[in-house]
Amino acid sequence: MSAFSDYDLVNRNPLKKKIFSINDDFQNRLIKLSFERIFLFLKDIIPDFKLEISSDECARNFKKSFAAAKAQNLISYGGIPEKNYLALSIISQLLNPSLYVESGFFKGSSLLAVSDAKNLKHIIGFDPIHSEYKAKLPIDIKLTLLKTDFSKYNFEDENLTSSLVYFDDHINTAERILQASDKGFKNLIFDDSCGLMGTAERIYPSLPSLFFIDNVNKLIEGDKIEWSKDREKKFNFFNFFSFSLKKKKYFSFQFDKTTIDLCKKARERISAIHKIPDLNDYIYTERQMPNDITQHLVTLK
Ligand SMILES: C[S@@+](CC[C@H](N)C(=O)[O-])C[C@H]1O[C@@H](n2cnc3c(N)ncnc32)[C@H](O)[C@@H]1O
Repeated sequence: MSAFSDYDLVNRNPLKKKIFSINDDFQNRLIKLSFERIFLFLKDIIPDFKLEISSDECARNFKKSFAAAKAQNLISYGGIPEKNYLALSIISQLLNPSLYVESGFFKGSSLLAVSDAKNLKHIIGFDPIHSEYKAKLPIDIKLTLLKTDFSKYNFEDENLTSSLVYFDDHINTAERILQASDKGFKNLIFDDSCGLMGTAERIYPSLPSLFFIDNVNKLIEGDKIEWSKDREKKFNFFNFFSFSLKKKKYFSFQFDKTTIDLCKKARERISAIHKIPDLNDYIYTERQMPNDITQHLVTLK
């Protein structure tokens, strides 16, 4: 008996040099299966949740939008990876908001992912930097892109009863929860607001992030996290010669009284925090990603 060989059914033909491939029909079935997964997730947590779209239609919309996102080079550095694009696309089609607000739109990959929601009339995006934005969204959706901060914007003229807010700005989740709650939003999605491992993998980890807000009663003044991260700078000379320089950066975060009080205030506004199902089982993610790229759905009181 040699190691691994006895019942191994995998074809290890070295001449087949595919990085990754799956037949179309198989992928379609997996997309529909991921729809079932997200549907059950939402049905469990949202009272009176009504199904207004079929898995066929949802999967068709996703495929079209995902192909457009790839063609626009949005599934790349800084944008959301494949499985999060899929989750966002299905969630937005199922929740079907008329207003979508995003803080941290960067190149616009998540904006395109949500834009298949049938009722969607208006997208309001916030980001201090607009030079990276390149998504082409459906023209029948009003698009307002702003450099002001989410906290400064007055949503009084908007209908918040059918709204979804997505935070991908990697800053202070507790403040974002308080601001969103003050403005009257109920359904929020947070990207990159993780626990210990997810924090230690990021330069901008949204601290105090959801896990620590949720567990604020276990925090003690002086609790401290220290971590490091390689920052890589790539240099490319006329596509002829390239090299990269790595420099380790060091970070720390301490839970002082003010931060703990802030977490407590934010916790009081939260009705529930849910990890959005990880869709690794259904779609291949090509890019090297951090260990934890969980998205969370947060419902406010
Ligand atoms: C990871 S990127 C967002 C990716 C984006 N959602 C996408 O799919 O392309 C984070 C973005 O947050 C933005 N950002 C930083 N501070 C911000 C703030 N105060 N408000 C809104 N966006 C901010 C950054 O400029 C950056 O574009």
